[in-house]
Amino acid sequence: MPAERQKLQLLRCSLDLANKPEDYDARLNFSVQLFRSGHQKQGLQHMTALVREFPTHLTAIFNLGVMLQKLLRFSEAASVYARVLKINPSYVDAWINMAGICSKFGYNDKSRAAWKRVLILQPDNEMAKHMFLALSNSQPTIQCEAQNICSPSSQMPISMIEGIFDEYAANFDDHLEQELDYRTPKQLISLLQTNEVKRFGLDLGCGTGLSGMEIRPYVEHLVGSDISEKMLRQASQKNTYDQLWHLDNEHALNRSASLGLPWDMVTAVDVFPYTGDLDTIFNLVASLLVPKGSFLFSVEAVGLCAKPYRLLPTGRYAHSLSYLRDRLPQYKFSIEKIKAAPIRRHRDGLIDGYLVHCKKR
Ligand SMILES: C[S@@+](CC[C@H](N)C(=O)[O-])C[C@H]1O[C@@H](n2cnc3c(N)ncnc32)[C@H](O)[C@@H]1O
Repeated sequence: MPAERQKLQLLRCSLDLANKPEDYDARLNFSVQLFRSGHQKQGLQHMTALVREFPTHLTAIFNLGVMLQKLLRFSEAASVYARVLKINPSYVDAWINMAGICSKFGYNDKSRAAWKRVLILQPDNEMAKHMFLALSNSQPTIQCEAQNICSPSSQMPISMIEGIFDEYAANFDDHLEQELDYRTPKQLISLLQTNEVKRFGLDLGCGTGLSGMEIRPYVEHLVGSDISEKMLRQASQKNTYDQLWHLDNEHALNRSASLGLPWDMVTAVDVFPYTGDLDTIFNLVASLLVPKGSFLFSVEAVGLCAKPYRLLPTGRYAHSLSYLRDRLPQYKFSIEKIKAAPIRRHRDGLIDGYLVHCKKR
């Protein structure tokens, strides 16, 4: 929410609270608005006091958990969610947040159990289906159970991608550059091995524009597309792109087809880990690139694997080298270079990946 609207909301809640200082709802809304508008410490203090006075009011307890989680106080947040679930075991959002915290600490079994509770309460919850499958995949004995509940997935649900990155947008650049040692855009663009400037470039899943900053010197006119509006808002502040499209990858490619735009370069930097089956994308990119046009992308690498891709416990996909080598030529790409390289950090290790440069024949 833009800062001005946030201030206005806070003012409204303060007035409401002044009129009804003992009212539970007025105090709840005031604490939430205070926290959201940057006064996190005070928001947390108000919410803690509210929970002390109304120890069984679930919305306040849950929101206290959310605040602690946002402040990265994960263990405390988990205890607060456990308290919510003790009072009401059907509180879905508490299960969802609990599942996320368990995954973060590598407690995959606990996370899987929490997602299963979500699925029992909301059998159509797409994120729960995806994560339940992802966390079941590495354990053959429970794979069958998962497959009875959910059908195999070839792409993370678009609404889930949007939710993850909308939430992440404000901290994305700092987190990736300072903590995750993210150098994939630079490394990928170095595969071009030329200073030639191309005319039209499309950066799929452009995010906040970290990829665009590296690509910009190589194209005259650069379009970025992404499904997360908040990531795009960050990108627009960098003034790196000539246009930004709020679309998922397939719709962005279809849109450029309907506009008759031929691309000289298409990039997708750290975007394909959210899509397992890349055939549709490869086909669309091939149909839109000019002859000798460049397609640059990165994927996470799966170790030895007979299948084209694997859904990992993180909910992302890793692709096999044989899939890339087999499919790209089928879509009339010549492979210029595939380089094994770390993509970014994850917990204590590095995530292995492949950086790919191919050209339309
Ligand atoms: C890890 S970020 C990378 C952002 C940028 N390319 C960079 O290198 O900094 C992944 C981005 O891809 C976007 N994304 C993932 N899958 C997508 C899809 N199917 N359609 C559109 N955007 C997608 C996400 O919203 C997110 O902004």
